[in-house]
Amino acid sequence: MLEIERLGHHGDGIAPGPVYVPLTLPGEIVNGTVLNGRIEDARIVTPSAERVRAPCPHFRSCGGCSLQHASDRFLAEWKEDVVRKALAAQGLEAGFRPVHVSPARSRRRATLAGTRTKKAAMVGFHARKSDTIVPIRDCFVLHPDLMAMIPALEEITRLGGSRSATLAFALTRSEAGIDCAVTGGKPLDETLRMALPRYIGRFARLTWGEETVFTSALPVQEFGPAKVTPPPGAFLQATGDGEAALLAAVREATGSATHIADLFAGCGTFALPLAVAARVHAVEGDGEMIAALDRGLRLATGLKPLTTETRDLFRRPLLADELARFDAVLIDPPRAGAEAQTREIAKAQVPRVAMVSCNPVTFARDAKTLTEAGYRLNWVQVVDQFRWSPHVELAASLTLPHIEAKPKKGQG
Ligand SMILES: C[S@@+](CC[C@H](N)C(=O)[O-])C[C@H]1O[C@@H](n2cnc3c(N)ncnc32)[C@H](O)[C@@H]1O
Repeated sequence: MLEIERLGHHGDGIAPGPVYVPLTLPGEIVNGTVLNGRIEDARIVTPSAERVRAPCPHFRSCGGCSLQHASDRFLAEWKEDVVRKALAAQGLEAGFRPVHVSPARSRRRATLAGTRTKKAAMVGFHARKSDTIVPIRDCFVLHPDLMAMIPALEEITRLGGSRSATLAFALTRSEAGIDCAVTGGKPLDETLRMALPRYIGRFARLTWGEETVFTSALPVQEFGPAKVTPPPGAFLQATGDGEAALLAAVREATGSATHIADLFAGCGTFALPLAVAARVHAVEGDGEMIAALDRGLRLATGLKPLTTETRDLFRRPLLADELARFDAVLIDPPRAGAEAQTREIAKAQVPRVAMVSCNPVTFARDAKTLTEAGYRLNWVQVVDQFRWSPHVELAASLTLPHIEAKPKKGQG
């Protein structure tokens, strides 16, 4: 018998040893065969009071979710605690805003896998720690508009998949329909070129490898007053609800700033709405994303001047003297964080810094660089767009001591 002491970063329960026990919770007494430091299919002898019945019928087999057996309250506290511990490891503390959790069935962006079998095709998520695909008929995470595409994706898998390879369908919901970018399929030969146009109208856009097969309607996203068509498969916040919560946090953290640098700006998710009230300079490493932002910007009205720049911010961060003209910086880097860029922000002493992060460890490291340079960490908010997964996303506000971290008038 073993007692689970805590959850690891992948959401597995951990008992002394350490022994990793998936689908368990802290305080639970479990039994099972330990193999290579793991117990698969543990028997729960004493369940936690936080254990709930998983809502999804696919939960035990599907690898898409790993924490549906935990209560919402436990998950919110656990995610906040992951951030609190990462900060404590850097000697930092923060006040936490209530966790914002996106509703079930609101994921607008996901990658599904497809394989061809002898007679049919299967589309779904990979099974837990396996290459096998679990077909999904009902999913508590994905937006119903994504789920509705599965029959078409199965047909496409039969047409363009092989029995040895797995197709990946990167799906993004837009108001105009689903944007689908397919990779891992057969080369786009004449047969496929003849067959795929039958899906015109069912997808807004279909891309095969590097090639766009058709665009029946521009798969636009609305960022403030602008409409942007992101490149196929491009980054987009996972839920519209999570994006709105992050934007509200970023607005508050940038406060009354009149000139904002948006670093790691993507296609303008934050830059375009922020430009309603302030001048913005958006910097991003991917030229196609900046081109998409620029196209959206050209047709938008009611914005203050917004400039863009394609730049690798790991190799060539904006330097302190380039940052001196801004009174706020928003930084939303990939998982690696933004070590070099944060050092320059600290040097420049930009009064307000809004941080958005998908990795509490690199967030805490970069926040420490700022606090060592005199910044105050005002608050942190976990925004849970990845419900029932161990993934943690957050926004935070830092200011120099003479700046009051008060919301702008009219923004709560
Ligand atoms: C977490 S996403 C955030 C994008 C945007 N802020 C949004 O909310 O949609 C991180 C962004 O950083 C960009 N990126 C990754 N590495 C980079 C680098 N070395 N220099 C500049 N941008 C980079 C990615 O292309 C991606 O758009």
